[in-house]
Amino acid sequence: STAAAAGSSGGTSAKTITLGFSQVGSESGWRAANTQSIKDSATAAAITLKFSDAEQKQENQIQAIRDYISQKVDVISFSPVVTTGWDTVLKEAKAAKIPVVLTDRSVDSDPSLFVTLVGSDFEAEGERAAHLLEKVLALPGAPKTVNIAVLEGTTGSAPAIDRAKGFKKIADASHPEWKIVASQTGDFTRDGGKQVMAAFLTAHPEINVLFAHNDDMGLGAITSIEAAGKKPGTDILIVSIDGTHDGFVAMTQGKINAIAECNPLLGPQLMDTIKTVLGGGSVPAWIKTKEGDFMAADAAAALPNRKY
Ligand code: AHR
Repeated sequence: STAAAAGSSGGTSAKTITLGFSQVGSESGWRAANTQSIKDSATAAAITLKFSDAEQKQENQIQAIRDYISQKVDVISFSPVVTTGWDTVLKEAKAAKIPVVLTDRSVDSDPSLFVTLVGSDFEAEGERAAHLLEKVLALPGAPKTVNIAVLEGTTGSAPAIDRAKGFKKIADASHPEWKIVASQTGDFTRDGGKQVMAAFLTAHPEINVLFAHNDDMGLGAITSIEAAGKKPGTDILIVSIDGTHDGFVAMTQGKINAIAECNPLLGPQLMDTIKTVLGGGSVPAWIKTKEGDFMAADAAAALPNRKY
């Protein structure tokens, strides 16, 4: 990082902040919007950003964080691909006195090893998806026997673990009639959703509901549902999470029935948090994102105002 000249007259000294950021990958539309938000807001905040894409591999993230430590950046931020296995590298950052601000996803480490998390409540998203499914199943013509397929996110990732937990909580508490007949990871990608859904449809022709942990897997699944001669949104009801542009378009076409929003535009809050932390201020342990719920009937009106 560079120190701006303070001037001989004793004027204020402005130090440019250097942020080392390790992104999970580029697996989804959500992630593309998140990356853009981080890059744009770093520029707007005059923060120097060192950015690397880990291609959904933990070892790449650990390597990137070690590189940032040796480059002596002012602050490190990352969205951890999985929840476990971070203690060693987080201790290295702490020993180097470089604060770590998590964003999007959390870790299962001792909370003293990072400053805060700027991101969503994934368990609440899973619960919200279940409540959206209740609404979809209350619409005319909805089936009474509910055979659910689940496309899970990346195995071991916070959103996959917590969305499954939140959904199950509501299902167990109130819906003995909901049967999860198939559940497997599609790694948060469109291709993963497509391939896993194709296999599900062959093995379980009784599936009439899909809960996809993100829009991209839902969109991939739509391709396979149509290829199998079924109508997405009618023969197989679909609820997903994110609220990307393509997810909204699928809702306007009646192919996705409802979406629980997960907001990827975390950059501005992340940059504000970093400035507060480096300025010696205190921040809450978790800075939560505000999100909405959308039924297909709301999609056309909402689409022009969507920002990602
Ligand atoms: O961690 C957030 C999740 O990661 C998003 O819901 C998904 O689309 C992304 O890949």
